[in-house]
Amino acid sequence: PAEASYEHILISTPRPGVGQITLNRPKALNALSTPLMTELNAALRAFEASKEAGAVVITGNEKAFAAGADIKEMKDLNFASAFGNDFIKNWSELTQISIPIIAAVNGYALGGGCELAMMVDILYCGPKATFGQPEIKLGVIPGAGGSQRLTWAIGKAKAMEIILTGKNFSAEEAERWGLAARVFETPEACVEGALDTAETIASYGRLAVKAAKEVVNQSMENGLSEGVKFERRVFQSLFATRDQKIGMTAFAEKKKPQWTGE
Ligand code: CAA
Repeated sequence: PAEASYEHILISTPRPGVGQITLNRPKALNALSTPLMTELNAALRAFEASKEAGAVVITGNEKAFAAGADIKEMKDLNFASAFGNDFIKNWSELTQISIPIIAAVNGYALGGGCELAMMVDILYCGPKATFGQPEIKLGVIPGAGGSQRLTWAIGKAKAMEIILTGKNFSAEEAERWGLAARVFETPEACVEGALDTAETIASYGRLAVKAAKEVVNQSMENGLSEGVKFERRVFQSLFATRDQKIGMTAFAEKKKPQWTGE
């Protein structure tokens, strides 16, 4: 994807097979305006389509991952326009991307910023990451999946407390409660750690990675027995791929697999 075509994000390919998207509205603490979200979706689609990227890292800056949806853009909306135009529906496009996405969260991840971080596949954070769903203080509620994903991730008691009080929570709490996969010691280590993990994922067969992401995500949609059956069927289908033969033969022959993505 051409760097020049974006105004609110920066894109790069810092490691083999790894795309990086940096949210870049620092003066507005990376508030997630509609133009920014449109660019984010476009960049993710472009990485997915390029076939070069096997995983993507989304990050912000040290002060803010994202301080929420853009309040200045929203303040004059009325019900008819919000409902009529299905305001922020396009945020969900991110969840349709088939390659793994890792968020490296430093600073504020509030409201829509917290929701964006919870939409990705792996959430990493730095020591000063600050999470929260402060919408209640603005007279609204989370609108981009926060009430659902936070409750799934940390359970009803804590989610209810956070959403009803609008109180922030720390990186250490996010990890302890199972929302963040890891907390790093510095903001830089968080981004590097996310790139390391993305590089590891990108080094594997693309079909198995895509299947793994799909089955884990399905766990949140299905009952257990349906989910286990779905997983087994996808597992079985991978025996139709060349990468399965390559991976298992390489193991047996003590060689490094050369994935083909077929
Ligand atoms: N939307 C628009 N602009 C924002 C913003 C947001 N969500 N968050 C911060 N900004 C802007 C500020 O207005 C300010 O702009 P100016 O310099 O033009 O005044 C600039 O970013 C810097 O912010 P502050 O001066 O407020 O910085 P601070 O360090 O004093 O405070 C903060 C930081 C506590 C995060 C504070 O900015 C804040 O409370 N932001 C709003 C957080 C919030 O309520 N988020 C939820 C939004 S609603 C939502 O997301 C709905 C949904 O579910 C989809």
